[in-house]
Amino acid sequence: MNALHTFKTINYTKLTNSGTFTFAAPSNIALVKYWGKKQNQIPANPSLSFTLKNCKTITKLQYQPKAEKNISFDLLFEGQVKESFRPKIQKYFERIQDLCPYILDYHFKIDTQNTFPHSSGIASSASGMAALSATIIALEKLVNPNQTEAFYLQKASLLARLGSGSACRSIKGNIVVWGETDSIENSSDLFGVTFPYEVNNIFNNYQDTILLVDKGEKQVSSTVGHDLMHNHPFAERRFKQAHENIQQLKDILKTGNLTEFIALVESEALTLHAMMMTSKPYFILMKPNTLEIINEIWKFRESTKIPVCFTLDAGANVHVLYPEKYKISVTEFITNTLAKHCQNNQFIHDEMGNGAENVS
Ligand code: PMV
Repeated sequence: MNALHTFKTINYTKLTNSGTFTFAAPSNIALVKYWGKKQNQIPANPSLSFTLKNCKTITKLQYQPKAEKNISFDLLFEGQVKESFRPKIQKYFERIQDLCPYILDYHFKIDTQNTFPHSSGIASSASGMAALSATIIALEKLVNPNQTEAFYLQKASLLARLGSGSACRSIKGNIVVWGETDSIENSSDLFGVTFPYEVNNIFNNYQDTILLVDKGEKQVSSTVGHDLMHNHPFAERRFKQAHENIQQLKDILKTGNLTEFIALVESEALTLHAMMMTSKPYFILMKPNTLEIINEIWKFRESTKIPVCFTLDAGANVHVLYPEKYKISVTEFITNTLAKHCQNNQFIHDEMGNGAENVS
Protein backbone atom coordinates (compact mmCIF):
# COMPACT_ATOMS: atom_id res chain seq x y z
CA MET A 1 0.00 0.00 0.00
CA ASN A 2 2.87 2.35 0.73
CA ALA A 3 4.58 1.50 -2.53
CA LEU A 4 6.44 4.33 -4.17
CA HIS A 5 4.25 4.46 -7.28
CA THR A 6 1.22 5.56 -5.25
CA PHE A 7 3.07 8.86 -4.73
CA LYS A 8 3.55 9.54 -8.41
CA THR A 9 1.48 12.50 -9.60
CA ILE A 10 -0.03 11.60 -12.96
CA ASN A 11 -2.85 14.09 -13.50
CA TYR A 12 -2.08 17.72 -12.93
CA THR A 13 -2.84 21.10 -14.41
CA LYS A 14 -0.27 23.65 -15.48
CA LEU A 15 -0.56 26.98 -13.72
CA THR A 16 -0.44 30.06 -15.92
CA ASN A 17 0.57 32.52 -13.21
CA SER A 18 3.72 32.73 -11.19
CA GLY A 19 3.58 32.66 -7.39
CA THR A 20 5.49 32.20 -4.15
CA PHE A 21 5.43 29.94 -1.10
CA THR A 22 7.49 30.30 2.04
CA PHE A 23 7.91 27.45 4.50
CA ALA A 24 9.96 27.04 7.67
CA ALA A 25 11.13 23.59 8.72
CA PRO A 26 13.09 22.66 11.83
CA SER A 27 16.03 20.38 12.38
CA ASN A 28 15.50 17.18 14.38
CA ILE A 29 17.58 15.19 16.81
CA ALA A 30 17.65 11.39 16.54
CA LEU A 31 17.52 9.37 19.75
CA VAL A 32 17.80 6.10 17.83
CA LYS A 33 20.19 6.87 15.01
CA TYR A 34 19.96 6.26 11.28
CA TRP A 35 23.40 5.14 10.18
CA GLY A 36 23.70 3.07 7.04
CA LYS A 37 21.52 3.10 3.94
CA LYS A 38 20.50 1.10 0.91
CA GLN A 39 19.79 2.48 -2.57
CA ASN A 40 17.45 5.47 -2.98
CA GLN A 41 17.86 6.67 0.57
CA ILE A 42 16.23 3.58 2.06
CA PRO A 43 17.50 3.33 5.65
CA ALA A 44 19.35 0.22 6.80
CA ASN A 45 17.66 0.56 10.19
CA PRO A 46 14.73 2.43 11.74
CA SER A 47 15.32 5.68 13.63
CA LEU A 48 13.33 7.84 16.05
CA SER A 49 13.76 11.56 16.60
CA PHE A 50 12.45 14.58 18.44
CA THR A 51 11.52 17.36 16.04
CA LEU A 52 13.06 20.67 17.09
CA LYS A 53 11.61 24.17 17.10
CA ASN A 54 14.21 26.97 16.94
CA CYS A 55 16.90 25.61 14.60
CA LYS A 56 15.07 26.14 11.33
CA THR A 57 15.52 26.74 7.63
CA ILE A 58 13.16 29.21 5.99
CA THR A 59 12.76 28.67 2.26
CA LYS A 60 10.97 30.84 -0.24
CA LEU A 61 10.07 29.21 -3.54
CA GLN A 62 9.01 31.38 -6.46
CA TYR A 63 7.62 29.47 -9.44
CA GLN A 64 7.29 30.86 -12.93
CA PRO A 65 5.60 28.83 -15.70
CA LYS A 66 7.77 28.19 -18.78
CA ALA A 67 7.29 26.50 -22.16
CA GLU A 68 9.99 23.84 -22.23
CA LYS A 69 10.03 20.91 -19.80
CA ASN A 70 13.25 20.74 -17.81
CA ILE A 71 14.78 21.28 -14.38
CA SER A 72 15.49 25.00 -14.04
CA PHE A 73 16.24 27.00 -10.91
CA ASP A 74 18.17 29.86 -9.34
CA LEU A 75 19.49 29.35 -5.86
CA LEU A 76 20.07 32.02 -3.25
CA PHE A 77 21.30 31.65 0.31
CA GLU A 78 20.38 34.62 2.48
CA GLY A 79 19.68 36.61 -0.70
CA GLN A 80 23.07 35.86 -2.33
CA VAL A 81 23.70 33.46 -5.22
CA LYS A 82 25.12 30.26 -3.76
CA GLU A 83 26.71 28.10 -6.45
CA SER A 84 28.14 25.57 -3.98
CA PHE A 85 24.63 24.45 -2.96
CA ARG A 86 23.49 23.90 -6.56
CA PRO A 87 24.63 20.29 -7.14
CA LYS A 88 22.69 19.03 -4.12
CA ILE A 89 19.50 20.78 -5.24
CA GLN A 90 19.98 19.67 -8.86
CA LYS A 91 20.29 16.07 -7.63
CA TYR A 92 17.21 16.53 -5.46
CA PHE A 93 15.11 17.72 -8.42
CA GLU A 94 16.42 14.83 -10.55
CA ARG A 95 15.41 12.36 -7.86
CA ILE A 96 11.91 13.76 -7.41
CA GLN A 97 11.02 14.52 -11.07
CA ASP A 98 9.38 11.12 -11.63
CA LEU A 99 7.14 11.54 -8.60
CA CYS A 100 6.52 15.24 -9.28
CA PRO A 101 6.64 15.65 -13.09
CA TYR A 102 4.92 19.05 -12.78
CA ILE A 103 8.19 20.60 -11.51
CA LEU A 104 9.49 20.51 -15.10
CA ASP A 105 6.88 23.12 -16.10
CA TYR A 106 8.36 25.92 -13.96
CA HIS A 107 11.47 27.92 -13.39
CA PHE A 108 12.12 28.19 -9.66
CA LYS A 109 13.84 30.84 -7.63
CA ILE A 110 14.76 29.37 -4.26
CA ASP A 111 15.86 31.68 -1.47
CA THR A 112 16.83 30.00 1.75
CA GLN A 113 18.11 31.06 5.16
CA ASN A 114 18.80 29.41 8.51
CA THR A 115 17.94 30.69 11.97
CA PHE A 116 21.11 29.16 13.39
CA PRO A 117 24.60 30.51 12.69
CA HIS A 118 26.13 29.47 9.40
CA SER A 119 28.73 26.67 9.71
CA SER A 120 27.84 26.09 13.35
CA GLY A 121 28.30 22.39 12.75
CA ILE A 122 24.52 21.98 12.96
CA ALA A 123 23.39 20.01 9.95
CA SER A 124 21.18 22.24 7.84
CA SER A 125 20.41 19.50 5.33
CA ALA A 126 17.54 18.08 7.42
CA SER A 127 15.78 21.43 7.91
CA GLY A 128 16.75 22.63 4.42
CA MET A 129 15.44 19.63 2.51
CA ALA A 130 12.30 19.53 4.65
CA ALA A 131 11.55 23.21 4.00
CA LEU A 132 12.15 22.86 0.26
CA SER A 133 9.96 19.75 0.09
CA ALA A 134 7.18 21.54 1.96
CA THR A 135 7.20 24.28 -0.71
CA ILE A 136 7.12 21.71 -3.53
CA ILE A 137 4.12 20.01 -1.92
CA ALA A 138 2.40 23.39 -1.59
CA LEU A 139 2.80 23.70 -5.37
CA GLU A 140 1.50 20.16 -5.82
CA LYS A 141 -1.63 21.09 -3.86
CA LEU A 142 -2.34 23.73 -6.50
CA VAL A 143 -1.70 21.56 -9.55
CA ASN A 144 -3.27 18.40 -8.11
CA PRO A 145 -5.68 19.37 -5.31
CA ASN A 146 -7.60 16.12 -4.96
CA GLN A 147 -5.48 14.26 -2.43
CA THR A 148 -5.91 14.00 1.33
CA GLU A 149 -3.87 16.01 3.83
CA ALA A 150 -2.34 12.72 5.03
CA PHE A 151 -1.13 11.98 1.50
CA TYR A 152 0.49 15.41 1.13
CA LEU A 153 2.25 15.05 4.48
CA GLN A 154 3.60 11.61 3.61
CA LYS A 155 4.71 12.79 0.21
CA ALA A 156 6.44 15.87 1.67
CA SER A 157 8.35 13.55 4.00
CA LEU A 158 9.16 11.20 1.13
CA LEU A 159 10.53 14.05 -1.01
CA ALA A 160 12.56 15.34 1.94
CA ARG A 161 14.03 11.85 2.36
CA LEU A 162 15.21 11.89 -1.24
CA GLY A 163 17.05 15.15 -0.47
CA SER A 164 18.62 13.97 2.78
CA GLY A 165 17.51 10.89 4.71
CA SER A 166 16.97 12.38 8.14
CA ALA A 167 15.09 15.35 6.61
CA CYS A 168 12.01 13.13 6.32
CA ARG A 169 11.72 13.37 10.12
CA SER A 170 11.44 17.20 10.02
CA ILE A 171 8.10 17.58 8.22
CA LYS A 172 5.97 16.81 11.25
CA GLY A 173 6.31 16.87 15.00
CA ASN A 174 7.00 16.07 17.52
CA ILE A 175 8.27 12.50 17.80
CA VAL A 176 8.88 10.82 14.46
CA VAL A 177 9.81 7.28 13.43
CA TRP A 178 11.35 6.55 10.05
CA GLY A 179 12.08 3.03 8.85
CA GLU A 180 9.91 -0.04 8.90
CA THR A 181 9.97 -1.83 12.24
CA ASP A 182 7.59 -4.36 13.84
CA SER A 183 6.96 -2.43 17.04
CA ILE A 184 5.62 0.71 15.28
CA GLU A 185 2.42 0.28 13.31
CA ASN A 186 2.47 1.81 9.81
CA SER A 187 6.17 2.64 10.04
CA SER A 188 7.74 2.95 6.62
CA ASP A 189 11.12 3.10 4.92
CA LEU A 190 9.69 5.69 2.52
CA PHE A 191 8.69 8.47 4.93
CA GLY A 192 8.57 9.45 8.58
CA VAL A 193 5.43 8.82 10.67
CA THR A 194 4.39 10.55 13.86
CA PHE A 195 4.99 8.26 16.86
CA PRO A 196 1.48 6.82 17.23
CA TYR A 197 1.44 5.76 20.90
CA GLU A 198 0.96 7.28 24.32
CA VAL A 199 3.74 9.61 25.47
CA ASN A 200 4.31 10.51 29.13
CA ASN A 201 3.91 14.21 30.03
CA ILE A 202 7.52 14.35 31.20
CA PHE A 203 8.47 14.51 27.50
CA ASN A 204 6.27 17.56 26.77
CA ASN A 205 8.47 20.35 25.38
CA TYR A 206 11.58 18.25 26.07
CA GLN A 207 14.61 20.54 25.97
CA ASP A 208 17.65 20.21 23.72
CA THR A 209 20.52 22.64 24.26
CA ILE A 210 23.06 22.26 21.48
CA LEU A 211 26.64 22.90 22.57
CA LEU A 212 28.77 24.10 19.68
CA VAL A 213 32.04 22.31 20.36
CA ASP A 214 33.38 22.37 16.83
CA LYS A 215 31.92 24.64 14.21
CA GLY A 216 34.28 23.56 11.44
CA GLU A 217 33.42 21.66 8.29
CA LYS A 218 32.36 18.12 9.00
CA GLN A 219 35.34 15.74 8.87
CA VAL A 220 33.15 13.02 7.35
CA SER A 221 30.06 13.80 5.27
CA SER A 222 27.05 11.71 6.19
CA THR A 223 27.11 10.17 2.69
CA VAL A 224 30.61 8.83 3.34
CA GLY A 225 29.55 7.84 6.85
CA HIS A 226 26.56 5.79 5.69
CA ASP A 227 28.79 4.06 3.16
CA LEU A 228 31.13 2.94 5.92
CA MET A 229 28.36 0.64 7.13
CA HIS A 230 28.72 -1.48 4.00
CA ASN A 231 30.93 -4.45 4.92
CA HIS A 232 31.23 -3.08 8.44
CA PRO A 233 32.03 -5.96 10.82
CA PHE A 234 29.30 -4.95 13.29
CA ALA A 235 26.67 -3.67 10.84
CA GLU A 236 24.13 -6.48 11.05
CA ARG A 237 24.14 -6.53 14.83
CA ARG A 238 23.85 -2.74 14.94
CA PHE A 239 20.88 -2.69 12.55
CA LYS A 240 19.11 -5.27 14.70
CA GLN A 241 19.91 -3.28 17.84
CA ALA A 242 18.17 -0.21 16.40
CA HIS A 243 14.93 -2.23 16.06
CA GLU A 244 15.31 -3.45 19.66
CA ASN A 245 15.99 0.07 20.92
CA ILE A 246 12.92 1.49 19.22
CA GLN A 247 10.78 -1.22 20.78
CA GLN A 248 12.26 -0.44 24.19
CA LEU A 249 11.93 3.31 23.69
CA LYS A 250 8.24 2.85 22.89
CA ASP A 251 7.72 1.60 26.47
CA ILE A 252 10.00 4.24 27.97
CA LEU A 253 8.13 7.05 26.24
CA LYS A 254 4.94 5.69 27.78
CA THR A 255 6.18 5.14 31.33
CA GLY A 256 8.43 8.20 31.42
CA ASN A 257 11.20 6.18 33.08
CA LEU A 258 14.05 8.66 32.63
CA THR A 259 16.73 6.36 34.03
CA GLU A 260 16.00 3.94 31.21
CA PHE A 261 15.62 6.81 28.73
CA ILE A 262 19.06 8.17 29.59
CA ALA A 263 20.72 4.76 29.36
CA LEU A 264 19.24 4.10 25.95
CA VAL A 265 19.85 7.56 24.46
CA GLU A 266 23.47 7.85 25.59
CA SER A 267 24.22 4.32 24.48
CA GLU A 268 22.78 5.07 21.02
CA ALA A 269 24.98 8.17 20.70
CA LEU A 270 28.12 6.28 21.68
CA THR A 271 27.18 3.36 19.43
CA LEU A 272 26.96 5.72 16.45
CA HIS A 273 30.48 6.93 17.22
CA ALA A 274 31.67 3.40 17.91
CA MET A 275 30.53 2.45 14.40
CA MET A 276 32.72 5.23 13.00
CA MET A 277 35.66 4.24 15.16
CA THR A 278 35.44 0.61 14.01
CA SER A 279 34.90 1.14 10.28
CA LYS A 280 37.55 1.10 7.59
CA PRO A 281 38.73 3.78 7.26
CA TYR A 282 38.06 4.77 10.91
CA PHE A 283 37.23 8.21 12.29
CA ILE A 284 37.09 9.88 15.67
CA LEU A 285 34.54 12.66 15.36
CA MET A 286 34.48 13.61 19.04
CA LYS A 287 36.89 16.30 20.25
CA PRO A 288 38.54 16.47 23.68
CA ASN A 289 35.86 19.01 24.67
CA THR A 290 33.11 16.57 23.69
CA LEU A 291 34.47 14.17 26.32
CA GLU A 292 34.95 16.95 28.88
CA ILE A 293 31.29 17.85 28.46
CA ILE A 294 30.09 14.25 28.70
CA ASN A 295 32.03 13.80 31.94
CA GLU A 296 30.66 17.05 33.36
CA ILE A 297 27.10 15.94 32.51
CA TRP A 298 27.67 12.61 34.27
CA LYS A 299 29.07 14.37 37.35
CA PHE A 300 26.20 16.89 37.45
CA ARG A 301 23.60 14.13 37.06
CA GLU A 302 25.18 12.08 39.82
CA SER A 303 25.38 14.96 42.30
CA THR A 304 22.03 16.67 41.59
CA LYS A 305 19.93 13.66 40.46
CA ILE A 306 18.59 15.91 37.67
CA PRO A 307 17.86 13.60 34.70
CA VAL A 308 19.93 15.35 32.06
CA CYS A 309 21.67 13.36 29.34
CA PHE A 310 23.51 13.84 26.06
CA THR A 311 23.27 12.69 22.52
CA LEU A 312 25.57 13.27 19.54
CA ASP A 313 25.25 13.60 15.80
CA ALA A 314 28.01 12.57 13.43
CA GLY A 315 30.24 15.34 14.79
CA ALA A 316 31.71 16.86 17.94
CA ASN A 317 28.74 18.98 19.08
CA VAL A 318 26.77 17.78 22.10
CA HIS A 319 22.97 17.87 22.43
CA VAL A 320 21.98 18.19 26.09
CA LEU A 321 18.51 16.72 26.67
CA TYR A 322 16.33 17.32 29.74
CA PRO A 323 12.70 17.79 30.86
CA GLU A 324 11.35 21.34 30.72
CA LYS A 325 10.86 21.54 34.48
CA TYR A 326 14.64 21.51 35.02
CA LYS A 327 15.28 24.30 32.52
CA ILE A 328 16.50 26.88 35.04
CA SER A 329 18.98 24.64 36.86
CA VAL A 330 20.28 23.00 33.68
CA THR A 331 20.71 26.38 31.94
CA GLU A 332 22.72 27.57 34.92
CA PHE A 333 24.86 24.41 34.77
CA ILE A 334 25.41 24.87 31.04
CA THR A 335 26.33 28.54 31.39
CA ASN A 336 28.64 28.03 34.37
CA THR A 337 30.25 24.68 33.56
CA LEU A 338 29.74 23.56 29.96
CA ALA A 339 29.90 26.78 27.92
CA LYS A 340 33.65 27.10 28.45
CA HIS A 341 34.15 23.87 26.49
CA CYS A 342 32.29 25.33 23.47
CA GLN A 343 33.79 27.39 20.66
CA ASN A 344 33.34 31.03 21.70
CA ASN A 345 31.18 29.76 24.60
CA GLN A 346 28.37 29.22 22.10
CA PHE A 347 25.26 27.10 22.62
CA ILE A 348 21.72 27.19 21.24
CA HIS A 349 18.57 26.48 23.24
CA ASP A 350 16.01 24.40 21.45
CA GLU A 351 13.07 22.18 22.35
CA MET A 352 10.54 19.84 20.84
CA GLY A 353 8.49 21.37 18.04
CA ASN A 354 5.80 20.68 15.50
CA GLY A 355 7.51 20.46 12.14
CA ALA A 356 7.23 22.44 8.93
CA GLU A 357 4.89 25.43 8.74
CA ASN A 358 3.62 27.76 6.08
CA VAL A 359 5.00 31.24 6.77
CA SER A 360 4.07 32.69 3.38
O1 PMV B 1 20.32 12.52 6.85
P1 PMV B 1 21.79 12.26 6.77
O2 PMV B 1 22.13 11.42 5.56
O3 PMV B 1 22.60 13.52 6.87
O4 PMV B 1 22.21 11.34 8.03
C1 PMV B 1 22.06 11.75 9.34
C2 PMV B 1 22.66 10.77 10.28
C3 PMV B 1 22.68 11.14 11.75
O5 PMV B 1 22.41 12.51 11.94
C4 PMV B 1 24.07 10.86 12.31
C5 PMV B 1 21.70 10.31 12.54
C6 PMV B 1 20.24 10.62 12.38
O6 PMV B 1 19.44 9.69 12.43
O7 PMV B 1 19.89 11.81 12.24
